[in-house]
Amino acid sequence: MSGFDKLWLDLREAADHAARDRDMRKDVIDHVAAVRADALVVDLGAGTGSTFRALSPEALNWRWRFVDNDPLLLAEGQVRHGASARIECVEAHLGDLSADMFSGARLVTGSALFDLVSEKFLARLIAQIVQTDVSLYAALSYDGVCRWDDHHPMDEAIVAAFNNHQRRDKGFGAALGPTAAPTLRRLLEDHGFHVSMAPSPWQLGPIHAELQRQFVSGMATAAMETGLVGEEDVNDWRLARLERAESSDCFVGHWDLFAAR
Ligand SMILES: C[S@@+](CC[C@H](N)C(=O)[O-])C[C@H]1O[C@@H](n2cnc3c(N)ncnc32)[C@H](O)[C@@H]1O
Repeated sequence: MSGFDKLWLDLREAADHAARDRDMRKDVIDHVAAVRADALVVDLGAGTGSTFRALSPEALNWRWRFVDNDPLLLAEGQVRHGASARIECVEAHLGDLSADMFSGARLVTGSALFDLVSEKFLARLIAQIVQTDVSLYAALSYDGVCRWDDHHPMDEAIVAAFNNHQRRDKGFGAALGPTAAPTLRRLLEDHGFHVSMAPSPWQLGPIHAELQRQFVSGMATAAMETGLVGEEDVNDWRLARLERAESSDCFVGHWDLFAAR
């Protein structure tokens, strides 16, 4: 079980969908649709199917393989979309996948995933997809930039500690964290892919107050776990940021990437 909560994924989805780069979304849809109506898309770390929803309604014409190690999230995806779409759910640890998983696919995708994985995992994944002539759409990789319009003196120290925590092992070896998108680009270009990248930041305002509150709480917990910032300072920061969630604007940097050959 991965520990990603359905409620958290639902809470972030509107901000995720608004953040995805629109031109790249269209390029990806055109790329998949160019082959045949029932192209296969493999969604790694699919959760409940956020990428399927982000690429809908066109996504309804394609076959989908949702891969995740959390059976509850996969079951939720089936409940939401199984009646209207062709979705196969595969419960697996992404580190255990073989090249067969991508055989016949037009696209491999993943969102809010690639900052969790290690360089070793990526190198293996790319070596596998190179054998199968499939393209890759990696959306919403966190890049380490997080800032608020109403500055707090602890913002930088907390974000630095959070970014340090983002490099910890998330089940794949030392995580790439904020270095995910440039690392992905380098490895893909080394294998002959043409890579495009576009910023896809969260731009959160008062209408995202609950998302801001949960994000800040998670960030404070992670920062505290590193021991790089004092407990009292983190708690003061957490309280101040929770109080300001209905008035602050928050920018969280992400990148979208599309690679084809
Ligand atoms: C941040 S969530 C993103 C989910 C979905 N892509 C979205 O955008 O809503 C990361 C997803 O990766 C899955 N995951 C994490 N580690 C995994 C692993 N080792 N094997 C398979 N899935 C994993 C989680 O269960 C979760 O669904």
